[in-house]
Amino acid sequence: MKSTKIMARSLGNHSLIPFIRSQTPRLTGVSYRELSSSSVLPEMPPCDFKPEKYESLPYERIVDIRQHHLSPALKTCYKKPLLLHQGHMQWLYDADGRRYLDLFAGIVTASVGHCHPKVTEAAQKQIGRLGHTTNIYLHSPIHEYAEKLTSLLPGKLKVLYLTNSGSEANDMALYMSRLYTGNFDIVGLRTGYHGASPYALGMTAHTDYKGGVANGFGCHSAMCPDVFGGIWGGSHCRDSPVQTIRKCSCSPGWCEAKDKYIAQFKETLSTCTSKKIAAFIAEPIQGVGGVVQYPKGFLKEAYELIRERGGVCISDEVQTGFGRTGSHYWGFQTHDIMPDIVTMAKGIGNGFPMAAVVTTAEIANVFAQSLHFNTFGGNPVACSVGSAVLDAIEEDGLQKNCEVVGTYMLKKLEKLRDRFEIVGDVRGKGLMVGVEMVKDKKTRERLPTDQMNLIWEDCKDMGLLLGKGGLYNQVFRIKPPMCITKDDVDFAVEVLQVALTKHVDRTLT
Ligand SMILES: Cc1ncc(COP(=O)(O)O)c(C=O)c1O
Repeated sequence: MKSTKIMARSLGNHSLIPFIRSQTPRLTGVSYRELSSSSVLPEMPPCDFKPEKYESLPYERIVDIRQHHLSPALKTCYKKPLLLHQGHMQWLYDADGRRYLDLFAGIVTASVGHCHPKVTEAAQKQIGRLGHTTNIYLHSPIHEYAEKLTSLLPGKLKVLYLTNSGSEANDMALYMSRLYTGNFDIVGLRTGYHGASPYALGMTAHTDYKGGVANGFGCHSAMCPDVFGGIWGGSHCRDSPVQTIRKCSCSPGWCEAKDKYIAQFKETLSTCTSKKIAAFIAEPIQGVGGVVQYPKGFLKEAYELIRERGGVCISDEVQTGFGRTGSHYWGFQTHDIMPDIVTMAKGIGNGFPMAAVVTTAEIANVFAQSLHFNTFGGNPVACSVGSAVLDAIEEDGLQKNCEVVGTYMLKKLEKLRDRFEIVGDVRGKGLMVGVEMVKDKKTRERLPTDQMNLIWEDCKDMGLLLGKGGLYNQVFRIKPPMCITKDDVDFAVEVLQVALTKHVDRTLT
């Protein structure tokens, strides 16, 4: 009780926030001032885990090293960046032992939970047995993993390549597509993110990542079929428990927005590329682009158009794979499409640096016309970790959890959208969720960055870590470890509600 009183006077004082202990409140129709003066602030669900004491470099020293010895292009989050020390499932602990609910999972990467015991044990065992040998020799983990991972892919997608990052996986997929088809042009979608290495950067259609050096020769981006922020879209377009607030007059089975975006796609093919195409690459739901969902049927038709022009289709599952969308294991399955090449990274290793490309034997055989080698891809520790991640997804029922808890979250966030003018759109599938913030719902003009940041900081101060994305960072991205619970969702939504209420009060004064 004592701690809640302190809290009431101190929202915004970082050091006191973790001590919030109120009864689970129902926060309806109250202003932030009323909230804070009545000590009603969200209570974090309990957790038995005790983090170790932090005994490493002091905060100031870390900031100094970062400033002088690490890439100045590396951005940190928050005015006072968090110094994180330990992770446990959906929780992160900072150097002072404060606990945070991590709804961003190290950018969609801690898939089965930070330091999941099964994954940790697999890594420890393998590193003590055989930490490295290259794949010029045989070792068991890569073979066990190849069999296990490819058994989860449909159709002819049965040949696996292991790489070290998503960018490298996409580079390989793009290179493969050019070799296999003998064509050069590659098409993607604007606001798509496929990595920062030379090939992948060409397909990353997001100016912030482009440094102004020549890249992307033969790379083209078609209009992103964004049914909330784009030119067309309505209230039936997407595969999500929550639709946009935009009006829709389409008849059942017909989506005008899909047809219009496909017409744009065709225009890109008729104006920017040659008649023959090497590949089309797209994320089933755009991640960095701000959890953008396309109209149903769009990708299916785009795939047909590409194949008519001799191209192959690449599904970038770096964020959407491994059960995150809930209804299916792979994002492409939610669009009823069959890619020729699938790329994966991030959640594949729960934080261990590994990534993969899976393709058909036919494509792999053409790619085999030259040697392909990388030193670390398929490293025994990576493969043991990858196997443990697949087992954890299965044993912990994480795909189902994404569906159940993700839908629960989306429906709760929808209520926030209906209540707050600045919450323009709530979208997503499973635990791949986006909340797009606007100045007002009518214009859908984005909420200015400084205002986004204040809400984001307030959430962090109450123990909730969110991601941001979209071309203008106008979308809160929620892609937590797939083990979060409904209690965690209740806490997160209440924190957001307090932060939004505070924002409304701020703008009224
Ligand atoms: C969809 C997608 N593809 C590819 C990449 C690149 O992966 P990496 O950062 O491991 O190179 C990312 C990274 O954010 C991504 O989100």
